[in-house]
Amino acid sequence: MNTIIQKVNPERLERDTLKEAVNILRNGGLVAFPTETVYGLGGNALEETAAKKIYEAKGRPSDNPLIIHIGEKNALEELTEQVPPKALQLAEAFWPGPLTMILKKSKKVPFSTTGGLDTVAVRMPKHKIALQLIKESGVYIAAPSANLSGRPSPTLAEHVAEDLGGRIDMIIDGGMVGLGLESTIIDVTQEIPMILRPGYITQAMLENVIGRVEVDKAILKENKELHLRPKAPGMKYKHYAPKGDLTIFQGMSKQVILAINQRAAEKIKEGFRVGIIATDETIACYPRGIVKSIGSRKDESTIARSLYSVLREFDELEVAYIYTESFESNQLGQAIMNRLLKAAGYAVVSV
Ligand code: TXA
Ligand code: MG
Repeated sequence: MNTIIQKVNPERLERDTLKEAVNILRNGGLVAFPTETVYGLGGNALEETAAKKIYEAKGRPSDNPLIIHIGEKNALEELTEQVPPKALQLAEAFWPGPLTMILKKSKKVPFSTTGGLDTVAVRMPKHKIALQLIKESGVYIAAPSANLSGRPSPTLAEHVAEDLGGRIDMIIDGGMVGLGLESTIIDVTQEIPMILRPGYITQAMLENVIGRVEVDKAILKENKELHLRPKAPGMKYKHYAPKGDLTIFQGMSKQVILAINQRAAEKIKEGFRVGIIATDETIACYPRGIVKSIGSRKDESTIARSLYSVLREFDELEVAYIYTESFESNQLGQAIMNRLLKAAGYAVVSV
């Protein structure tokens, strides 16, 4: 298949590009497009076959349900059976934006889109291109992240082309995305809503609006040994994995730097190529290996934005080992660590 790659102004799609993308979506094809979190691989959410095509293109297990992207809040009425008051409050507070809500699905939503579940994930994205595409096509767009299953999510159109070029109809290249981590997912079907995937919208931000919110115990690092089953099916797969062997070093900054330098020196001596994920504050402290800064600790959003692209860069450089500092705080750091731990298969060295 020939994949059309169209560079666009991130503010607004030209008429011809829009027409082409809309045509593809209405005819059951697949279009990758930028959102404010990561690039999505879009198909018609109410079309039985679109989900199948998406799964095929991504090489994704078909029990992993898709998020439906909407352009207006009142689409909830058509897509869901019931909208609890807390869901309305959250939509009011955070949509358009990086929040996905799990709700009871209506009959209109095919089970192929929800992976057989009777709930549906819905999100109203903030990116202008995404909104324009949904509104002007009149199509609700089911879209997972536009990467091959298991690879880091795409923050640039080039990442999408790398993974899905030749497998989908079109890629809309709107440049680099803003946030770089996938949306927060919250299940609002229960009395006390539960976070199934951490993201830019934190537990504290959610609690500010609707009161008590829980976090799925299965996604907490300290419960890893319990082998609980995550409530979001996609969270159980090894995800975001780089090709090199990734280890996270945790502890006081000075000790972490020392330990990473020591480990890097050993592996380099053994003849391996080593990558190191540092920060703007520490990049000068690593004399050996291929060292990249992931951003500044003074502004965690810079780290979120670079995480996936740094992992991909190390893939390209074919490093055998990647050593990274850890990131923990109650804010965005929680989401960053959640992704990093999964990418590392929970390989953590405490120093
Ligand atoms: O930021 C995002 O959310 C991006 C952009 C493109 O919008 N999308 C994204 O989709 O990350 P995906 O497919 O890569 O991740 C969707 C996650 C998976 O872990 C899936 O299992 C979960 O959402 N999910 C979807 N529907 C669900 C449902 N009904 N119940 C529980 N989890 C669900
Ligand atoms: Mg994904």
